[in-house]
Amino acid sequence: MVMSIARRAMLSLAFALLSPFAHAGSDEDPSTEALWQQYLRPQAQWPALPKEAQPLAPLPDPHPLRAALDDPLVELGEKLFHDKRLSQTAEVSCASCHLASHAFADPRARSLGVRDQEGRRNAPALLNTHLWDHFFWDGRASSLETQAVMPVEDPLEMAHSPKAIVEWVRKAEDYRPLLQGLNTSLSDLDWSLLAKALAEFQRSLMDDPKEQVLDRFLLAVAAEDWSTARQSLSDEQLLGLHLFRTKAGCVKCHNGPLLSDQRFHNMGLHYLGRKFEDLGRYEVTGLNKDMGAFRTPSLRHLVLTKPWMHNGLFTQLEGIVRMYEHGGARPRRPKNLPPEAYYPKTTELLVAFELSDQERQALLSFLKTL
Ligand code: HEC
Ligand code: HEC
Repeated sequence: MVMSIARRAMLSLAFALLSPFAHAGSDEDPSTEALWQQYLRPQAQWPALPKEAQPLAPLPDPHPLRAALDDPLVELGEKLFHDKRLSQTAEVSCASCHLASHAFADPRARSLGVRDQEGRRNAPALLNTHLWDHFFWDGRASSLETQAVMPVEDPLEMAHSPKAIVEWVRKAEDYRPLLQGLNTSLSDLDWSLLAKALAEFQRSLMDDPKEQVLDRFLLAVAAEDWSTARQSLSDEQLLGLHLFRTKAGCVKCHNGPLLSDQRFHNMGLHYLGRKFEDLGRYEVTGLNKDMGAFRTPSLRHLVLTKPWMHNGLFTQLEGIVRMYEHGGARPRRPKNLPPEAYYPKTTELLVAFELSDQERQALLSFLKTL
């Protein structure tokens, strides 16, 4: 009950920030054939990117990376990841909030930890984690190894201690064979080994670019295999890709193999001075310039990682696209904020643009292939 009121308040606030949605006019669409001619050539010759942008890139080939993983550790990590005894009350495992069926994201806007406590952020997907330089929406962990202890100790998530976990793993019969496979004596077993195992398991969760629509297209273009390139995308998806790279400006931040620049931007979704305040990166650095900034999320498997944004605010991709058409969220400074208090500005990288209905559909159809 409490939760649903909170959600409704959040959604109506989002609506107030984003409306009105009035749109006029539509650009002349270039003909499909002419557009294909612009893309069936090396990426360097494609229509120009906005000046702040980096190009799109396919995911690296996972096979050599997988071969370099320590298999017995991956196996141990997989078992730990699914083990509810990692939480104080044995109610939640890592997998309770990171569901394999959802690209290891959480379909709930905000996850529930031990004793059904609600956290404040949406759990991101855990695929291709080997490509991130820093973790969490605010980037506060610099490796998967250092990240692992954070949900364990978080009182709203697992509310446990690494020491207690090491104690029961030492005693647990069902872990004996795995530990023997690692040639680790029970007395040598420590948290850093368990954290390494969790990290290695997560690193094993890699996409194969050959199975991804965008990557098949990018790889075919790189190989100058124009007939495969042409078959990799529908006409509508190509238009969507084109808009993503040009007029809609998405590629300014969503670029590279993760479709993330791994940087932090203020999108105006910080709710400073309001009930759902979350200052993002500022909580890590204490710098005004980081107030309300969040790490650009990957757009891989977008359809599965719903709901979206750091707080799971959006359940419709079209709502997100319309927010961007308006140049992002531009919240007004709340009246109750003391006059001397700093109030962050939405990033200047977000600029309003117009899409026809057909173009909006094309952009959405491209996003759904990711
Ligand atoms: C109660 C739900 C919950 C549990 C349990 C949980 N997580 Fe998470 N996880 C989250 C949320 C929410 C975030 C995002 C938090 C943030 O950014 O501040 C997150 C973020 C992460 C990230 C960062 C991903 C990225 O893209 O930066 C990793 C890695 C991760 N979790 C791994 C784990 C592991 C390993 C465990 C088990 C030891 C675990 N999680 C347990 C909810 C959970
Ligand atoms: C200025 C950098 C920037 C630009 C430009 C940008 N984004 Fe984002 N995008 C972000 C950041 C940062 C977030 C996370 C914001 C948050 O959670 O508060 C985000 C979130 C998203 C999400 C939610 C993903 C998730 O897993 O929660 C989608 C979808 C998305 N953007 C699509 C787009 C599209 C489509 C465009 C172009 C119309 C675009 N973005 C342009 C930085 C950007």
